[in-house]
Amino acid sequence: MMVLGIETSCDECAVAILEDGRRILSSVVASQIEDHRPYSGVVPEIASRRHGELIQPVFSRAMDEAGLTIRDIHGVAVTGRPGLLGALLVGLTFGKALAYSRGLPFVAVDHVRAHLHAPHIEHRIPYPYLGLLVSGGHTLITRVDGFDDITVLGTTIDDACGEAFDKVAKHYGFGYPGGVAVDRLARRGDDGAFSFPDPSLHKGEHRFDVSYSGLKTAVTSQLDKFRNPGFPATAENIAASFEKAAVNILLRRLFRAVEETGLTRVVAGGGVAANTRLRATLMERTDLEVIFPSPELCTDNGAMIAALGCELLRRGITSPWTENAQARVPGFKRSYP
Ligand code: KG4
Ligand code: ZN
Repeated sequence: MMVLGIETSCDECAVAILEDGRRILSSVVASQIEDHRPYSGVVPEIASRRHGELIQPVFSRAMDEAGLTIRDIHGVAVTGRPGLLGALLVGLTFGKALAYSRGLPFVAVDHVRAHLHAPHIEHRIPYPYLGLLVSGGHTLITRVDGFDDITVLGTTIDDACGEAFDKVAKHYGFGYPGGVAVDRLARRGDDGAFSFPDPSLHKGEHRFDVSYSGLKTAVTSQLDKFRNPGFPATAENIAASFEKAAVNILLRRLFRAVEETGLTRVVAGGGVAANTRLRATLMERTDLEVIFPSPELCTDNGAMIAALGCELLRRGITSPWTENAQARVPGFKRSYP
């Protein structure tokens, strides 16, 4: 089954074509980094307008690179939620029009679920496992018992992990996009230069939840309080110490979930899963089976949309032509085992 996937929820205009949800025939990602760089963050109005300009050429390139025509496509999947409303509407409307005009099945998919599904493109992953989703908008520790059986064990009570990377980078002018800039600087820094606190672990229901606003405040407004004598406050040292703390906040809760659930397979996804330290630190746990997608499948892309769309379409799940974009969604069921 040949499925076309369209992603326009934020600042990447992406179209991919996958065969049977696994074989990537083409995956084109047009980044809008240069458009948003002057503002050190994504400007929703600019993002929508750029998607409007980019969507058709990106689609054509994806078809050309796959060596296919629209007659070879069996279904269309588009990100319908969550994301920037104006941006989502561009991809959704393009995808709907395409599917309608060709009489193809169409399905709107959840962007967060697509990130969680992305590792399945390159790996055969048995259930159950612990799914870790870390992106600019979401931080989730999940228990995944089946394709349709995802339970959120923990989430952020304030900022998302990627958002903390972006805000720290913006504050210090490390570069844009922030996560990549911190990652690059951190590799040359000393992570012992500052000791940022990890908020103590919650108890009870919220024991797998994370919080990033305290770390963000510590790094951006209380730096001297956490400086260790003898270490200079260079950009590299700030980045390395922050990154170490950010990764540890996440992994302490994840490892607690490993202990409590007894699950030893960990599957990660989302933009922050491209982070060098996160990948290296998780890989050190040789008692765990850790699965990461390739970095280009961690950040926003059309392949994960096509892959999840393919699974849904195979199950006969489609969306109506009246399907609308949703900026936010209530999310997955949350449970405290
Ligand atoms: O999944 P994604 O592309 O978009 C969302 O759904 O949010 O994730 C983007 C986030 C941004 O916060 C970005 O700074 C972060 O992922 N990110 C990284 C790295 N690459 C992207 N954070 C840390 N290290 C990286 N290498
Ligand atoms: Zn994303």
